[in-house]
Amino acid sequence: MTTGAEPQKFLGHVEFKRGLEGAITNETRIGYIDGEKGWLVYRGYNIEDLAEHSTFEETAYLIIYGRLPTRAELTRWTDRLVQARPIPSYLMDALRRLPKEAHPMAVLRTAVSILGCHDPLADKIDIPNCERIGVDLIAKMATIAGAVMRMRNGQEPIPPDPKLSHAANFLYMCTGKVPDDFSARVMDANLVLHVDHGMNASTFTAMVIASSLSDLYSAICGGIASLKGPLHGGANEEVMKMLLEVGGPDKAEAWVRKAIAEKRKISGFGHRVYKAYDPRAKVLGKFSERITKLCGQERLYQTAKKIEELVVPALGGKGIFPNVDFYSGTIYYSMGFDYAMYTSIFMVGRIPGQVARVLEYLPDNRIFRPRAVYVGDLNLTYVPIEQRG
Ligand SMILES: CC(C)(COP(=O)(O)OP(=O)(O)OC[C@H]1O[C@@H](n2cnc3c(N)ncnc32)[C@H](O)[C@@H]1OP(=O)(O)O)[C@@H](O)C(=O)NCCC(=O)NCCS
Repeated sequence: MTTGAEPQKFLGHVEFKRGLEGAITNETRIGYIDGEKGWLVYRGYNIEDLAEHSTFEETAYLIIYGRLPTRAELTRWTDRLVQARPIPSYLMDALRRLPKEAHPMAVLRTAVSILGCHDPLADKIDIPNCERIGVDLIAKMATIAGAVMRMRNGQEPIPPDPKLSHAANFLYMCTGKVPDDFSARVMDANLVLHVDHGMNASTFTAMVIASSLSDLYSAICGGIASLKGPLHGGANEEVMKMLLEVGGPDKAEAWVRKAIAEKRKISGFGHRVYKAYDPRAKVLGKFSERITKLCGQERLYQTAKKIEELVVPALGGKGIFPNVDFYSGTIYYSMGFDYAMYTSIFMVGRIPGQVARVLEYLPDNRIFRPRAVYVGDLNLTYVPIEQRG
């Protein structure tokens, strides 16, 4: 029973949009997206150029320190990442005790939490210490993901090979085989494409946690937890299930028509920010065409391409185009990854962005505290429990 007071309906000049759509959280020099034009920029460099010319190591340096490294800086940085790759035995023991069937993202989240529990300086919140933790986690995320994949398949984890690049070593730790140059190149470009993407849900989650001056391990655990969801990083897993369900390019038309008629959200399409073609999907589409052919999985690419050719004319007018997750699954499948691993690969790529954004925000930190529009009752009369119906 209300007693006349009007529920709060407006917040002065603040516009309310569900999901904080369009809300501005902070100023940044890290990355820029123009969703109408389909642009993605890291520290001033177009993503297409970085995917073609840069490596994961170089891009991680760029995103964290604000400029491309000199050769000497890159050598020192790469050495630092290589030194940080091995994971401690206490962590390996803990991972072995988790159920084999646990979702790889849940294991990654748990692993980061365990590392935090063992770090006596975890709660020292200053930039050098957070940078130390961040770099350590960037290096170790690939090792943990590799160990998770091996253990899921009942295989022994493989220690990192210091002679291999981050991407090649990641593939090696997952599959047990040193990858050919093209596969290593595709994984490297794929990681570069995933490094940063503005105030996406997982990066924002990491920043919200860090803004309360909680530790970086907690912030990255939150980032992993958010990325796990099917509306975010989990979409590539859903795309792969969809492509297998469709069953081939000849069956795509009937499947797409039905999905559109039923107003289903088609995985790998649509984006909160891009209302044009996601530039990352363009790069990955080209790699997908080549690698699926090399691995004898060309039907997967053909099915995906056919779906794209049907969905874009039907929904492109609404700003629905393939997103980063649409082709990445076909690449991972061709490389031999179980689709439950896909979001973990995303996380291996995304961690430099999460770390960089937290490091950028902390020096002028202000705790995040949005408001909600209250639409509930006011001034209800408290009814003793014996009198409630
Ligand atoms: C990413 C996503 C959550 C963005 O959501 P959003 O910005 O809130 O967009 P909305 O859900 O408001 O959708 C706007 C319109 O486009 C439609 N739409 C959005 N994504 C769609 C998709 N994947 N397939 C079909 N239609 C879609 C919606 O039905 C809605 O149509 P309407 O205006 O007729 O009701 C959404 O596009 C989605 O769920 N995509 C599939 C999952 C995915 O690939 N996620 C990875 C993102 S990188």
